Amino acid sequence: MSSQLKIFDTTLRDGEQSPGASMTLEEKMQIAQLLEKMRVDIIEAGFPAASPGDFEAVNAIAKRIKNSVVCGLARAHPGDIERAGEALEPAEQSRIHTFIATSPIHMKEKLRLSPDEVVERAVAAVKQARSYTENVEFSPEDAGRSEPDFLCRILEAVIDAGATTVNIPDTVGYAMPEIFGKLIGELIERVPNSDKAVFSVHCHNDLGLAVSNSLSAVMAGARQVECTINGLGERAGNASLEEVVMAVKTRPDVFDCDTRIDTTQLVPASRLISSVTGFPVQPNKAIVGINAFAHEAGIHQDGVLKNRETYEIMRAEDVGWSANRMVLGKHSGRNAFADHLKSLGVEFASEDQLNDAFMQFKIMADKKHDIYDDDLLSIVSSAATVGRSEKFKLISVAAQVLPDDLSVATVEIQMDGQTKRLESRGNGVVDAVFQAIKNMVGFDGRLMLYSVNSITTGTDAQGEVGVRLEKEGRVVNGHGTDLDIVKASARAYINALNKLFSTEEKAHPQYSEAI
Ligand code: KIV
Ligand code: ZN
Repeated sequence: MSSQLKIFDTTLRDGEQSPGASMTLEEKMQIAQLLEKMRVDIIEAGFPAASPGDFEAVNAIAKRIKNSVVCGLARAHPGDIERAGEALEPAEQSRIHTFIATSPIHMKEKLRLSPDEVVERAVAAVKQARSYTENVEFSPEDAGRSEPDFLCRILEAVIDAGATTVNIPDTVGYAMPEIFGKLIGELIERVPNSDKAVFSVHCHNDLGLAVSNSLSAVMAGARQVECTINGLGERAGNASLEEVVMAVKTRPDVFDCDTRIDTTQLVPASRLISSVTGFPVQPNKAIVGINAFAHEAGIHQDGVLKNRETYEIMRAEDVGWSANRMVLGKHSGRNAFADHLKSLGVEFASEDQLNDAFMQFKIMADKKHDIYDDDLLSIVSSAATVGRSEKFKLISVAAQVLPDDLSVATVEIQMDGQTKRLESRGNGVVDAVFQAIKNMVGFDGRLMLYSVNSITTGTDAQGEVGVRLEKEGRVVNGHGTDLDIVKASARAYINALNKLFSTEEKAHPQYSEAI
């Protein structure tokens, strides 16, 4: 059995299915480049048949990424596989990942197909995918609730048809670690041609067990884990990449395999995903939470000072915490700025974006003494919108707390190229700003979430605001950063509105018409 555990990152596909986590092409490219730098083996870049935007993103990533395999998802459907094949055409290393549901409930209620028909379609899909690439993955969706005998039958058939990876998804997060591990061991044992394919797992976190289930499968012989940065993903998310990778690295006594991952990129990747999606990382999140290496209790601090191994099983710098240094000052030049961002895995899509980001950096350096990597990453994510035509643009915000407890805000925006300005009152300055924007654009949906985080420390730290809006069942997240949290709030609100008003329709691989 191979001693390499392949890491298959699906942040850009399953992660993006998380309500409100949609990403722009530039953001996806930035993430793909960081994943490549982290030495992720396979990057699932999207579901090309979902929408023209998804196709374009997979195609652009396929052109740019050289050192990781670029993968596209496709239902076991000729049209989907053709789209995936076309999108991946320019890739140096490509993979098509095709899937069809195999649990009794999915076959009967969703697909309305007999088990024989499901096997037939799976085999046909794998054969068609092999006409585009030699690297084909097959997933029996909802395997966690499928009959083991049927799984053995379909896996044998797809491996015979040319699948080189077979992935066992716990689609609904129903599995228990011990039982799931046993299932993987049993499949490897019972499928006669199991030695011709890599066994993989893809676990969802509905019961908080995605990482445990994945690790149990690795102990039973799985040699690929599908996961996402920060555990982003559908509903409660997927297995978290950073937790899987660090568990395997920290416990070589338990796992007889290792990954190729450059673990110093884990914290930067977590920051990037959080800033792009606006989903904050909980402070006590393993590996990448701000408290993950903070020792508060005196007795712990004393022990760590004497010998860090008394209380630390991993080193903060090994997962990238030391990367958040004070790096540049107000006298740093444009080349130093671009070079430093390159070392953080950021490449600008255009000169205009670099110029805009550098200008924002200079403005920040005038106001803020210490500038950290995280400050730079937040500048970069807002510069990624330069050159993009958006419906709403924030021009200015002025707000004041009045003595009668109400606050007043005047907001100026550009809407479809026309400038509008409105003064509104509210319960606090943020409420007043939101009222003004809402009335100007005629938004009649719901504000579902408002959150503020500080990106670094100190009262001059940048505030990072997240806003979640809902209209007619569509949920989007917006984010905005600024030294001033009122401005950051206005930016986040406008960012969410731009996403809500974008018209692109996107099919969901699992909810859209199954076949
Ligand atoms: O959760 C799931 O079953 C999936 C498949 C497409 C692999 O995401
Ligand atoms: Zn999934």
